[in-house]
Amino acid sequence: MPELLHPSRPEPLRVDQLPTSWLAQSDTRRFERAIEAAVAAVDRNLAHFGDRFPMPSSKFGVYAAMDNTEWTNGFWTGQLWLAYELSGEARFRVAAERHIQSFDQRQRERIATNHHDLGFLYSLSCVAGFKLTGSEVARDAALGAARLLLERFHPRAGIIQAWGDLNDPAQQGRMIIDCNLNLPLLYWASETTGDLSFRQAADRHIEQAARHIVRPDGSTFHTFFFDVATGQPKEGKTHQGFADDSCWARGQAWGIAGFPLVARYNDDVRLLELSQVLANYYLNRLPADGICHWDLIFTEGAEERDSSAAAVAACGLLVLASRLPLTDPLRDRYERAAVGTVSTLHDYYFAHQAPAGAGLLRHAVYHKPQRMGVDESCLWGDYFYLESLARLTRIWKSYW
Ligand code: GLY
Ligand code: GLY
Repeated sequence: MPELLHPSRPEPLRVDQLPTSWLAQSDTRRFERAIEAAVAAVDRNLAHFGDRFPMPSSKFGVYAAMDNTEWTNGFWTGQLWLAYELSGEARFRVAAERHIQSFDQRQRERIATNHHDLGFLYSLSCVAGFKLTGSEVARDAALGAARLLLERFHPRAGIIQAWGDLNDPAQQGRMIIDCNLNLPLLYWASETTGDLSFRQAADRHIEQAARHIVRPDGSTFHTFFFDVATGQPKEGKTHQGFADDSCWARGQAWGIAGFPLVARYNDDVRLLELSQVLANYYLNRLPADGICHWDLIFTEGAEERDSSAAAVAACGLLVLASRLPLTDPLRDRYERAAVGTVSTLHDYYFAHQAPAGAGLLRHAVYHKPQRMGVDESCLWGDYFYLESLARLTRIWKSYW
């Protein structure tokens, strides 16, 4: 058994600082109404986008249309699968099935696949499609994407490189916390084919993320560089956060969600402990309404919120809670924090009576340092809001 993975100076959860509204009992009828409104918004956007896709973030609250060339397209197909499951309406399934053709072509022709976000793209489109319909095209496309993802593995460093050409000096050897959510595609590929090489790469990557991306206090770097020739760790750097030594809120949320999603496949309970430590750090830094600022260095004041990070964190807290023993006192806390977050998102961040093409959740941030999608909707926020609602109201079989 390898040594423990927990950081050396983790913070306990400061329960007294959580929003008092989160103590209320959950109200499932309210979540059913939230699902009705969200599915209606997906339906409206399906009519608007046809076979095209929404952009990663909105402008003045409305997404422009694009082809299947971004790292985010799977979040739209994933919303269609969720809308199909939550409503039973065949038109959502038919639209998602048409996307499968597009995702199949994309991996075969390597259209904008020179990055690690193949898991986001293919788990939510093709793995979901295979699980829900048994489509062999979907399964084979997802396996093709898993092979492309495996090409990005640096064996000495034990990491999957996030972005760009493997020899690009600016990007070489960079792992990022977001990749936690791309690893389930590799585990699924090993389960589906019996080929262990996918799983072995994912096991090594998640261990490096645990050791180097997570800091001693349970916060996270956004990205971390390795020397790919020697395998030596180099330094942490931010990309979308406020500073190299601050904690980008969405990165922390990717960590909260990604470690337990991986633990589902590799049964490493140390990843659940790690997710708890990250969750405590995140929950200890929320402003009064419980929706995080875009970087956790801000705990009050006028900096923008990132509702998309809150949606990812809520979903992650539900995955984490579902894997903790019933006797663990924090299990109920994490569940309540997720319920409180989703309730607040529904009451104050959901875009009611919005025009065609509008996002589901307002007040997210894509990339503040580059002034991209600031105080806008972000496509993954909409997806994780809907996945959280599914987890809160149904026995839901994960696409991851
Ligand atoms: N700018 C972050 C990404 O595209 O993944
Ligand atoms: N994975 C890129 C982002 O979260 O913006």
